[in-house]
Amino acid sequence: MNIEKRRFDSLIIGAGGAGLRASLALSQSEARVAVVSKVFPTRSHTVAAQGGVNAALGNVTEDSWHWHMYDTVKGSDYLGDQDAIEYMCRTAPKVVVELEHYGVPFSRMDNGKIYQRPFGGQSRNFGGAQASRTCAAADRTGHAILHTLYQQNIQAKTHFFDEYFAIDLIKDDEGAILGAVVLNIATGEPLIIEAKTTLLATGGAGQIFRTTTNAHINTGDGMAMALRAGAPLQDMEFFQFHPTGIAGKGMLITEGARGEGGYLVNCDGERFMERYAPNAKDLASRDVVSRAIAIEVRDGRGCGPDKDHVMLKLDHLGEAVIKKRLPGIRDSCLTFKNLDPVSTPIPVYPTAHYTMGGIPTNRYGEVVVPERHGPEEPMIGLYAAGESACVSVHGGNRLGGNSLLDILVFGRASGHKVTDYLKENRHHRPLAQDSVDQAFERLLRWDKKGEGENVYDLKAELKKTMEEHCGVFRREDELAAGFEKVCVLEERLQDAVLSDHSKVFNTARIEAMELENLMDVALATVKSALERQESRGAHSRIDYPERDDKSWLKHSLYFKEGKTLDFKPVTLKPLSVETFPPKPRVY
Ligand code: FUM
Repeated sequence: MNIEKRRFDSLIIGAGGAGLRASLALSQSEARVAVVSKVFPTRSHTVAAQGGVNAALGNVTEDSWHWHMYDTVKGSDYLGDQDAIEYMCRTAPKVVVELEHYGVPFSRMDNGKIYQRPFGGQSRNFGGAQASRTCAAADRTGHAILHTLYQQNIQAKTHFFDEYFAIDLIKDDEGAILGAVVLNIATGEPLIIEAKTTLLATGGAGQIFRTTTNAHINTGDGMAMALRAGAPLQDMEFFQFHPTGIAGKGMLITEGARGEGGYLVNCDGERFMERYAPNAKDLASRDVVSRAIAIEVRDGRGCGPDKDHVMLKLDHLGEAVIKKRLPGIRDSCLTFKNLDPVSTPIPVYPTAHYTMGGIPTNRYGEVVVPERHGPEEPMIGLYAAGESACVSVHGGNRLGGNSLLDILVFGRASGHKVTDYLKENRHHRPLAQDSVDQAFERLLRWDKKGEGENVYDLKAELKKTMEEHCGVFRREDELAAGFEKVCVLEERLQDAVLSDHSKVFNTARIEAMELENLMDVALATVKSALERQESRGAHSRIDYPERDDKSWLKHSLYFKEGKTLDFKPVTLKPLSVETFPPKPRVY
């Protein structure tokens, strides 16, 4: 088949904060950049980030990047790579000031400085008093950042392919990535985008779970493309459950609500976090608060007729504070629960929120596949940034406010690294037709009509299975059964069909390919969770309740072929300061 081709220096798949920060760096260096996004760019999931972005500006409390680094290492339960964490925390003030200059409308204090709110796991002086480090634009920080980055990209003449779905990467015999085959969603026409470099910035995969803060678009497309191209996924057992999703629905109620002074109570009206985290209380790190809520409910102290949630109280903050600092979550409560947090507590329960694992990269965004018997080599032409990547700065548990920071710091760093690569690599490699054909096969497979199971039912079953077998608390027998169930679902998907109607829309084909991606990510998640026999960060094994640094202070790597795992060491050595050695993690 004769498929249309376009050539660019660089292809970026995904138009959230990581993709747009990278494309901006590249367009400003006068590279020809294509950004492919399956939704209009400003609908990317960064738009949903509420509370803010961490940077040690010291506008509200005294602060330092080194304290931020300590909190991040501790928050990661010592699984984060300390070189990358140092780089991120040192670069944070610079990326926030850049954003301010690009026009992000941050909330301001009376002295005109950027407003910073306290968030979970933040401390002064290496574990001392609560810090206020999260730079906020009310509770719509991601929205403000995404729109600003998009406008800057328009000015810099980035080329956007809006509403194009990336079917698969193109790879030659030497393993170099040459671009991707994509699909115009409106017309159903495929397109080959040839590029000297390809950056995956497709976000997380919260759609593997039933109750999630993640949008329907968060289907782990980049992670699955990387797996198919032979890269592993790193630390996939670490999935963050945000403590405060609207109960039964999952939408996010920002940690900023607790940062502004909100607190959690059980059915006895008890402020129970005082028992679990005597110092940090409601601003302990997310894994700690989520487990505490799950235990309260499990032990019969939940609220409501089914005792299946706890309450987040904001009514004592007063109407003015809620309207000024938390207008978005007030809207969510009114829309989805018909309640006003100005006067009524919000029913909340942990909800799947963030994929800490992802495509393994170094701090320049290069995708690094470990050679078992040689030096680690970056894959030629392939980069990843943001939630789809694992640098790893979040390790076992991400701190709130470090997600927007990650996408900005490592989106920018990848853009700069690609710029350097393009200076040395001026020509496109010859296109690998076999690989194009293989990607195209993926699309054609979903033209098949006839009898078979329905894609939507299989998706619902996958989400339920993951929720039941791989949630906040985990156990060997449940994980093993969950893995088997997902393997069976994967097989059933091979024989599924889109619909028994004669007319099938492209969106249905895309949902089917998204489900294939979700299957791969779910398998990586449950398999990695099954193998890790310890509790660390968000990975909480009832049968192995302790952290075990002797055996498990290492990153997991899941490979698609054979569904196997390998491991690699954690980088404990920072760039310029002393290592923070693992110690018991208390808040
Ligand atoms: O709670 C929140 O506003 C979420 C922030 C984050 O995930 O970083």
